[in-house]
Amino acid sequence: MRKKRLNGLLWEIHEAYVKNRFVAVDGNDMIRILEELGARDEDFYTLKTVGEHLAPDPTLPFRETNGGRFCLDSERNKISRLEFQPFVLSIAEDFVRHDSGKLRSFRGIGDNLQLNKAFHALLFFKYFIIRDVNVSPRANLDMSSAKWVSTVFPTRTITTPDLLGEPALEGVHSDGVDHTMTSLLGSHNMMNDSAKTFIHDMREENSKRWNETNRLLRTGEFQHKKFLDTVLIIDHERKHSLSPVHATDPNQRATRDVIIFFTRKPATEGHISYHYDSFNPHLEFPLSLDIPQPPVIVRADDSRNG
Ligand SMILES: [Fe+2]
Repeated sequence: MRKKRLNGLLWEIHEAYVKNRFVAVDGNDMIRILEELGARDEDFYTLKTVGEHLAPDPTLPFRETNGGRFCLDSERNKISRLEFQPFVLSIAEDFVRHDSGKLRSFRGIGDNLQLNKAFHALLFFKYFIIRDVNVSPRANLDMSSAKWVSTVFPTRTITTPDLLGEPALEGVHSDGVDHTMTSLLGSHNMMNDSAKTFIHDMREENSKRWNETNRLLRTGEFQHKKFLDTVLIIDHERKHSLSPVHATDPNQRATRDVIIFFTRKPATEGHISYHYDSFNPHLEFPLSLDIPQPPVIVRADDSRNG
């Protein structure tokens, strides 16, 4: 794909994101974009297997999850891995679940994902789409910073004959960030009406199940069906919910693998994550990527007002 076409595609996605405050991107378009940003066939192949190497989620029995923190630095034009920190989401951030406010520790992302060029390209892609988008600011985030912290969770949701896998047990919620992005890595034995994502107006009530929500407050719907189907949501302007994972053969295990990118500005004093928001590098798994130069041109959000 020529650079001009890549620019055009990124620009279209960016414009749709600015206009609708969320955007869905077809997996085939994602593959073309990621290839242009350096991903090779073998990277796509290994990205599909990431879900086979995850640790049990600390608070959800039907989920396996690893975690990693990355800094997107628009001043230095670099993306780097940050040291481990516990992870927490609170009710104040529109995340109402039994583990709201609880510190959660996820096993760190390993080299099988961190060195994958398709993964690097996903980080670049997200950066290009969000960097010039003005969002409704959350309390106690430093919106003037040139840095974002991006917390990445490769996640497998599992349904068994005894356990229903819920991609969002919390019902209607936000993820406590500025921009949420989720891409599908794969699924197995999953019914094709499973795991739909519903987008809601902020007036929708937190923790309602997806099928109990007010249709008049539903502003969009999306289903990840094939590899790298992707959705981006401006997280403080739209809430979301998801339907469960149902098994095609109910006697067998069903799985759904995604990779989630939460991205927000640094926390300031008073934010629940303030003490867990280090920008120190990860010493055991260092990574420092130059964002491709010359930068892919994306028109700045006209509504930007700082
Ligand atoms: Fe979410």
